[in-house]
Amino acid sequence: MADRNELIGVAIRVVAAAAVSFLSVRYLVKYLDPNHSVNEESKKRVAQLFHELGIDREVQLSEHEVRIATQFVGGEDVGAGWDEIGGCEELVAELKDRIILPLRFSAESGSHLLSPPRGILLYGPPGCGKTLLAKAVARAAGCRFINLQVSNLTDKWYGESQKLAAAVFSVAQKFQPTIIFIDEIDSFLRDRQSHDHESTAMMKAQFMTLWDGFSSSGDQIIVMGATNRPRDVDAAILRRMTARFQVPVPNARQRKQILNVILKKERVDNSVNLEKIALASEGLSGSDLKEVCRLALLSRAKATVASGGSVTSLLPLEHTDFETAVHKYMRAAHLLVEETLD
Ligand SMILES: Nc1ncnc2c1ncn2[C@@H]1O[C@H](COP(=O)(O)OP(=O)(O)OP(=O)(O)O)[C@@H](O)[C@H]1O
Ligand SMILES: [Mg+2]
Repeated sequence: MADRNELIGVAIRVVAAAAVSFLSVRYLVKYLDPNHSVNEESKKRVAQLFHELGIDREVQLSEHEVRIATQFVGGEDVGAGWDEIGGCEELVAELKDRIILPLRFSAESGSHLLSPPRGILLYGPPGCGKTLLAKAVARAAGCRFINLQVSNLTDKWYGESQKLAAAVFSVAQKFQPTIIFIDEIDSFLRDRQSHDHESTAMMKAQFMTLWDGFSSSGDQIIVMGATNRPRDVDAAILRRMTARFQVPVPNARQRKQILNVILKKERVDNSVNLEKIALASEGLSGSDLKEVCRLALLSRAKATVASGGSVTSLLPLEHTDFETAVHKYMRAAHLLVEETLD
C-alpha cells in the first residue's frame, strides 16, 4: 500500500515537473523572441484585412509574410474611383492604356509581351494626386495594393531585413495581381550611400535582385513608386521604372475640375463661380484646393450657427465663402503677392 502511494506521489511529481518545464520553455520562447508581440499583432491585423478584402484565409503565410501582409490596403483606405480624381483625364487615359489594359490582356493571353511595365514612377510636386492615382489604378485593375512602409523592412536583427524583403515579393506573388507601392521612393532607394547600415544596404541590393527575378517571370506584380524628387532616385531604380508619369501642379482648367470633384456632395449656391475661384487659386495643388473647400465650409458652418441655425442643416456655400477661404489660404502659404501702390 505504502509502495503504491509512493509511486503515485512520484508520478505526480514527475507530471508537475514536466508541466513546469513545459510552461517555462513556452514562456522563454515567447519572451525571448524579440518580435513576439509584433507577430501576434500582425496576425490579428492580417485576419481583419483579409476579411475586408475577401481573401481566403487558408493561404499559408510565414512569419515574415504576415508582417508584410499587414501593409495590404483594405477597408476605407482602398482607392478612389476615377470620378473622384479631377483634372487628370489625359494621365488617367494613359494609365489605363499602359497598366490596366495590359494586366487584363496578359492574364487572358498569357503573353509576356502584353504584360504591363514592372516598374512605374509617378513624380511631381506634393499634394497633386500621386498617391490618389496609384490607389485608383489598383482599384480599377482589381489588384491587391501593398503600401510598403520601408521603415518596417529595416529590422535590427541580423538577416531579418533580407527575409522581409523576400517576403514582400512572395506575398505579392501569392495574391497577384499586386501593386507594391513605395511612397517617397527617393528616400528608400536613393543612391546607395556609404553610410547606409550594412543590413539596409544588403536589403536594398536584395530588393533589386528580387525585382529582377520576378520581371523575367510571368507573375503579375508591379512596383509603383512616387516621388517629389525624381532626381534623387537611384539610377539603378530609375532604369527599372520604365514607365514614368508626371503628375504636375494643376492649371486653371484642371483646378476647376478638381473643385467640382471635391464639392460634388456639398450644397453650393448659384452665386458660386468655380471658374473665378480656379483663376484666383493659381499655384495651388489638389490637396491645397481641398483645404480651401474645407475652410469655406467651416466659415459657412460658423455663419449658420451664429445666425441660430444648426450644422446639420447648413445653408449652401456662397461665392464669398470661397473668396475668403482662397485669400486666407494663399496668404498663409505666402503665395499672395501684395500689390504695391505707387
Ligand atoms: N486631381 C485631384 N482630384 C481630386 N482630389 C485631389 C487631386 N489631387 C489631390 N487631391 C486631394 O489631395 C489629397 C492629397 O493627394 P495625394 O496624397 O495623392 O498627393 P501626392 O501627390 O501623393 O502628395 P505627396 O507628394 O505629398 O505624397 C488627396 O487625398 C485628395 O483629397
Ligand atoms: Mg503621396
